[in-house]
Amino acid sequence: MSLEIRILPDYDAVSAMAATELETMLAQKPDAVIGFATGETPRGMYRELVRRQPNCRQMRTFNLDEYLGLPPDHPGSYARYMHEALFDHINVQPEHVHLMRGDASDPSAECKAYEQAIADAGGIDLQVLGIGRNGHIGFNEPGDEWTEGVHIVTLAESTRIANAPAFGGNPDDVPAQAMTLGIRNIVQARRIVLLATGATKADILAQALTGPVTPHVPASILQEHPSVLILADAAAGQHLGGNAGHGR
Ligand code: F6R
Repeated sequence: MSLEIRILPDYDAVSAMAATELETMLAQKPDAVIGFATGETPRGMYRELVRRQPNCRQMRTFNLDEYLGLPPDHPGSYARYMHEALFDHINVQPEHVHLMRGDASDPSAECKAYEQAIADAGGIDLQVLGIGRNGHIGFNEPGDEWTEGVHIVTLAESTRIANAPAFGGNPDDVPAQAMTLGIRNIVQARRIVLLATGATKADILAQALTGPVTPHVPASILQEHPSVLILADAAAGQHLGGNAGHGR
């Protein structure tokens, strides 16, 4: 097992190192399959990639999740987020980009097709993750069991509150459901980089990395993964000082 924790001075340093991880992966494997996350945390990583312009011509991508019911051009959709933050500004080939259709007429079939597409691509080489304040990864909310494949979830109320700013501030305007890669899909990625920044993530990050491995803290599963890099800024990593920089 290898869980490496790096505590960096600030958000920009996390963003820069995350961008370097992706560049390193693409240097080793130009057609690597990258799992991308959305949310506020990885925005700086994407800005940095746009600035550096690594060659992404052969890169293949799958996003972690999407809100149910939103068409790809909806301002709150993760499809739109990804295009605006990254895909429209790098040389990734449109046919290599995989995004779930939030407005699919048959969402269960959409989940199945996405699962199959990941398998057909040979699995995910590098999965980028953020962490929810409740410990979720993707939209795998805390629960009694680990989730398996790509599936439909009902979002936790705390998640709708946390994500409300992207919907004009009202949690009721955040879709109640989403599609997400399951925990099994995430841990099958060959390498995982989790980004955590800001003091609001400090407690949950410490719980996830040093507490018991339990589906009540979904990110805790990363303790059992063979190749994880945690990139935290000083605020998010404030309870992890003793582990910084050490593999385990
Ligand atoms: C986003 C995702 C979520 C976020 C998490 C943290 O695709 O899957 O798990 O990574 O909610 O969001 P931010 O970065 O906005 O704090």
